[in-house]
Amino acid sequence: MMPFENQIQLCVTDTSIEKAGLFRLGSRTVKRLGYGAMQLAGPGVFGPPKDREAAVAVLREAVMRGVDHIDTSDFYGPHVTNQIIREALAPYPAGLTLVTKVGARRDEKGAWHPAFSRDELIQAVHDNLRNLGIEVLDVVNLRLMFGAHGPAEGSLEVPLTVLAELQQQGLIRHIGLSNVTPTQVREARRLCEIVCVQNHYNLVHRGDDELIDDLGGDGIAYVPFFPLGGFSPLQSSVLTEMAGLLGATPMQVAIAWLLHRAPNILLIPGTSSVVHLRENLGAAALHLPDDIRTRLDRIATDSA
Ligand SMILES: NC(=O)c1ccc[n+]([C@@H]2O[C@H](COP(=O)([O-])OP(=O)(O)OC[C@H]3O[C@@H](n4cnc5c(N)ncnc54)[C@H](OP(=O)(O)O)[C@@H]3O)[C@@H](O)[C@H]2O)c1
Repeated sequence: MMPFENQIQLCVTDTSIEKAGLFRLGSRTVKRLGYGAMQLAGPGVFGPPKDREAAVAVLREAVMRGVDHIDTSDFYGPHVTNQIIREALAPYPAGLTLVTKVGARRDEKGAWHPAFSRDELIQAVHDNLRNLGIEVLDVVNLRLMFGAHGPAEGSLEVPLTVLAELQQQGLIRHIGLSNVTPTQVREARRLCEIVCVQNHYNLVHRGDDELIDDLGGDGIAYVPFFPLGGFSPLQSSVLTEMAGLLGATPMQVAIAWLLHRAPNILLIPGTSSVVHLRENLGAAALHLPDDIRTRLDRIATDSA
């Protein structure tokens, strides 16, 4: 008999995402399995997608299957992803939470540059409002770009003060952070209420383990970006083996592991494919027995 044979659960086509549970995001409570829209722009997150109708179909399928939390930014495209969201979903269903981010701009070749001046932040918020076709942004993440390869220290007081002003003006409901260190999270929380933190984290990239638990203790959502590995989707022989034992796909197991990792984790896996979307949402129903979680937990330490 194979080691985990008696625990095999084949639930992978069940896309009732309520099974993933709920968590608070600002003044809303959202399902823990949402959708990240970055993959809907063209190659390199630049320009229009090859198939705009397919992009529209992915968004409509997500909402039809109960997704109530979509992550985006006006610098995806730029403008393209937000315009596709508007085309696909406006007028927006009640209860849909749209989360965007500001702090970067694209040049004419698609390169990413920091955009933290007062004028750039105000412009970015207005661009998001216009392209999404809404009057208030539910959540705006201040996306820091102090380091080339991940979070780097530096004060966020000046840009955060601008967002707090826009919040006071009623253009932003809640503020979050992205690509930040624990020190920056502490600084930000002294300046204003922070409802979520969006950093790079997944089964093999676990630098934020302590931060996730600290935020969870205070009821703050942690939203991993690149939950499936991002531009280089996760590859691991252990992940593939565990997926085989569960009758699931490796991506479903990667999502289920994050859902089991901490109750304050909200998932926004990205895809440009309806087939992948359905597969990913199926992870809500995937139970991970303790022995399989232990094997998955070891992937990060074994690959370090
Ligand atoms: N704050 C930040 O700095 C930041 C940075 C990056 C991303 N984000 C946000 O986080 C979200 C998630 O990150 P992400 O989209 O970059 O990466 P991701 O969710 O880790 O992975 C997306 C990649 O995995 C592929 N994929 C998705 N489902 C799959 C499946 N079932 N089987 C095989 N391949 C699959 C996608 O290709 P297909 O399109 O072919 O499915 C795409 O190449 C983004 O959409 C964005 O909203 C934020």
